[in-house]
Amino acid sequence: MPNATFHFPPDFKWGVATASHQVEGHNTNNQWWAWEHQPGRIAEGQTSGQACDWWLNAEADFDRAAAMGLTTLRLSIEWSRVEVAPGQIDTAALERYHEMLQGLRDRGIEPMVTLHHFSDPLWLTEKGGWTNPDVVPYFSRYVDQVVQALGDLVTLWCTINEPNVYATMGYILGKFPPGTQHIRTAAIVLRNMLKAHGAAYRTIHQRRDDAQVGLAHNIRFFDPADPKRIRDRAAAWIQDLWFNRTTLAAVWQGWWLPPLGFGPALSVRRTLDWVGLNYYTRDLVAFDRKGDIAGLARTVHDETAEPLDGGYGELYPKGLSRALEQLARLGLPIHITENGIPDADDDQRPRALLLHLHQLWRTIQNNVPVKSYYHWTLVDNFEWTEGWTLPFGLIELDPQTQTRTPRPSSDLYSAIARGNAITPELLDAYAPELRPVLLPG
Ligand code: FCB
Repeated sequence: MPNATFHFPPDFKWGVATASHQVEGHNTNNQWWAWEHQPGRIAEGQTSGQACDWWLNAEADFDRAAAMGLTTLRLSIEWSRVEVAPGQIDTAALERYHEMLQGLRDRGIEPMVTLHHFSDPLWLTEKGGWTNPDVVPYFSRYVDQVVQALGDLVTLWCTINEPNVYATMGYILGKFPPGTQHIRTAAIVLRNMLKAHGAAYRTIHQRRDDAQVGLAHNIRFFDPADPKRIRDRAAAWIQDLWFNRTTLAAVWQGWWLPPLGFGPALSVRRTLDWVGLNYYTRDLVAFDRKGDIAGLARTVHDETAEPLDGGYGELYPKGLSRALEQLARLGLPIHITENGIPDADDDQRPRALLLHLHQLWRTIQNNVPVKSYYHWTLVDNFEWTEGWTLPFGLIELDPQTQTRTPRPSSDLYSAIARGNAITPELLDAYAPELRPVLLPG
């Protein structure tokens, strides 16, 4: 069908995703701010600084999202702003979030609110952060305050963003604060995060019957570098177990898998109304006794694949449908809570966007219940350890001057969102080389 249009379901929602520390600016009361100011932690010694200035003026970017025809936006609440010291709530901060969420509603944009996206209040860090089991009641107490203050404007709640990434980056690879490299501690952290998710699920539902609560799970494929080598397969299996399988086994099936434990996880079982997928790329894994990943393996890249900028991995759109098909087994509504690529000159993003959305379309045709897609991200933001060097925005940002320059991808994404479809005209205009691939014949 050389001229087919790929239509999305009529109630499908198009959005963008963000996180408080990456966009708000001057989040001085969290552990990331402290980490950024230590020498050698962030690429080129950069800091988040004013970020995208959302604390003072998120509304200017909400206008841009609305002008693009977007109907949903994912943002996160900064715990360190809301609970400035243990039990001490800053009501003015909650009022500011209320104003932002009202601003979204006024523009016809439905908010999705994440309650934890990598950043922790400094007071929590001083108490041992997520290694301390008390974090479970602390998190619930904070969540309760947020839901009381903002629940009139929010239905879609995302408790915690990527517990697996937080635990891996902070406690195995040591690239995020606190820079620990210790698998047993990582397992404690992940387990506490999943328990906190379960407790937050109940807290939110106690306040609001209408809430729909989930979490954002990052799925990354670990495929054996050489499928014929049993040791590569074993190394890939171990990484898949740790990174992809432990989280959902706990919060859906109600079972702790190693290294989190082994046995029933009754307190967190069935604590999802929907599941969120953050999907970026895949790794090929080779067994290596001196490897950097837990001393067992090393990541290699498929030389035939197209590399992403900044060593971020390979362009692997097929992974999006693979991940969605895995999640479909849970029988829950799915939101794609993040997907995007780093690409300053936008020479790959239009093609990447079209290829990923085509995979999404195919998966939806197979009756996988995907409800929305949130592109990461609207405007370049502070990309954690990579600082400002890995720009993921549909819109380019100069963080010094706060000047915004839309990339071609923002027009493409806007056209897809407005038309709720990928048309042959969009392929011709943005990635003509894809026409024979997606529309053969
Ligand atoms: C995800 C994070 C998000 C952003 C993207 C690029 O793992 O959730 O904050 O850094 O990667």
